[in-house]
Amino acid sequence: MLRIIDLEKNFGAVKALSNASLEMERGEIRALLGANGSGKSTLVKVLSGLNKKDGGRIWLNQEEIEINSPVSSKKYGIAMAYQDMSLIPELSLEENLVLGNEPKEKTAAMSQGRIREYAEKMIRELGIQAAPDTRVKDMDLSNQGLVEVAKAMYTEPILLILDEITASMHRDQVELLFAFLKRESQKGLSILFVSHRFEEVYELCQSATILRGGVSIQDVQLAQTPVNRLIYYMTGEEMKGEHDRAQSEGRSHSRILMEIENLTVEGQVKQISMTVREGEIIGIAGLQGQGQSEFLRALYGACPYQEGRIRIDNADIKIKTPKDAVKAGIGFISGDREKEQIMSVRSVEENLLVVEHAVSRPGSICFPGREKKVAEELVNRLNIITAGTDVLADSLSGGNQQKLAVGRWLGQELKILLLDDPTKGVDVKARSEINKLFCNMTKRGTAILYSSSDNEELLEIAEKICVFYEGRMIKVLSKGEMNGEVLARAMLGVAEEGGHV
Ligand SMILES: Nc1ncnc2c1ncn2[C@@H]1O[C@H](COP(=O)(O)OP(=O)(O)OP(=O)(O)O)[C@@H](O)[C@H]1O
Ligand SMILES: [Mg+2]
Repeated sequence: MLRIIDLEKNFGAVKALSNASLEMERGEIRALLGANGSGKSTLVKVLSGLNKKDGGRIWLNQEEIEINSPVSSKKYGIAMAYQDMSLIPELSLEENLVLGNEPKEKTAAMSQGRIREYAEKMIRELGIQAAPDTRVKDMDLSNQGLVEVAKAMYTEPILLILDEITASMHRDQVELLFAFLKRESQKGLSILFVSHRFEEVYELCQSATILRGGVSIQDVQLAQTPVNRLIYYMTGEEMKGEHDRAQSEGRSHSRILMEIENLTVEGQVKQISMTVREGEIIGIAGLQGQGQSEFLRALYGACPYQEGRIRIDNADIKIKTPKDAVKAGIGFISGDREKEQIMSVRSVEENLLVVEHAVSRPGSICFPGREKKVAEELVNRLNIITAGTDVLADSLSGGNQQKLAVGRWLGQELKILLLDDPTKGVDVKARSEINKLFCNMTKRGTAILYSSSDNEELLEIAEKICVFYEGRMIKVLSKGEMNGEVLARAMLGVAEEGGHV
């Protein structure tokens, strides 16, 4: 149905794609895999008309096509949900659905009633937690992702491309989305799925194409391909197996670093108390939107709390702004890089040094040569793929931008590091490196509160897991009790005997 041969795309001196090829059948769900910066987004943006190819040929249903613009891509029946989203935050859900989606027939298609009907149907089918008139900026990232899918489906495509749309989605949402996608593929829709979460890839897709450095390396049937083969094709290196994983060490922690008492954020967080010890990694789990994000942001001074007491090193502190938090030795990394993390029109170096600049004393001398060196060291350590430290953060791939958000805290002496999906969109190898760096920070005494939409990641790294439900902390799982099933059950707010907590 779709056939791409030897696609090429350069950005200046950067060869983002060379010899990228891919084939798909009608109704097939195929994964497009590759490390951060391997060219996945570049390839799918050629199909959606955002990138102009420099070479190669594309056929759709036996016919060779030229995709010149997003409009022509849509005309061919190709639709895409973007990694960085294409939604306008100020507009409502239903306004966004039709935005840029020209009506097929000029007359009836745009009627308000029909748009509302479509919006309500998609809200139901995808489990979007919002109303048709909710403004996109009032939704969290994962609901925005679902709206992005609904928007793509509005054009009734024959090929749907999803570029890391599940990266910040929690398990319950992923399940609804996958059920929807499988239904659509049975009706004939072809789906190209980009993700760094292997469990999802195996669950949804039949086949995969793997890119490495802009070249398609291998096509596989997933049922016959174990995950270490996929990683081998992606990286060109054998994975060292389980031992290579970052793992908390289950040390005993004695000294109490922070005490949180009855922290309450109106409507979101209800009377949370927690004791945090030096060097500890505490996981924070829950379905989407159970107060985890607000809890972390309250501790960072990015979300006001109405009640509660925070003590660090036995002294009461008031955290009203992120500046107060940084002064108290608290750091924060969020997976919402668009809104909270990355200054896209600043350089890689500026993005990496922003924390350093914020904490340095006014009037202290800076040495530009030294700063460049610090930035370059971080680029090497995190294997950030970039043309240099002076290029704009905008030109980096999604996962490499996320590494900038992580890198800026690594040199800091922190008491507490708050993490809200810190490795969102980061590939499997870099994710394990980053989690190892976090573990190293705990050896120097830093305590980490780690929230993740990915349960696997929490089970791997946390020493205990606090489960949030409707703003309350309803359960704490100790290392011995932790497994996927117990965690999933706890997240639903269901007590052991089946009653409600
Ligand atoms: N607009 C741009 N200007 C300059 N370089 C770019 C631009 N867009 C992408 N690149 C470069 O092209 C390469 C491929 O990037 P791409 O975004 O396709 O990677 P990706 O496989 O989607 O990675 P990720 O998993 O991190 O999203 C990277 O080296 C990136 O820096
Ligand atoms: Mg990408």
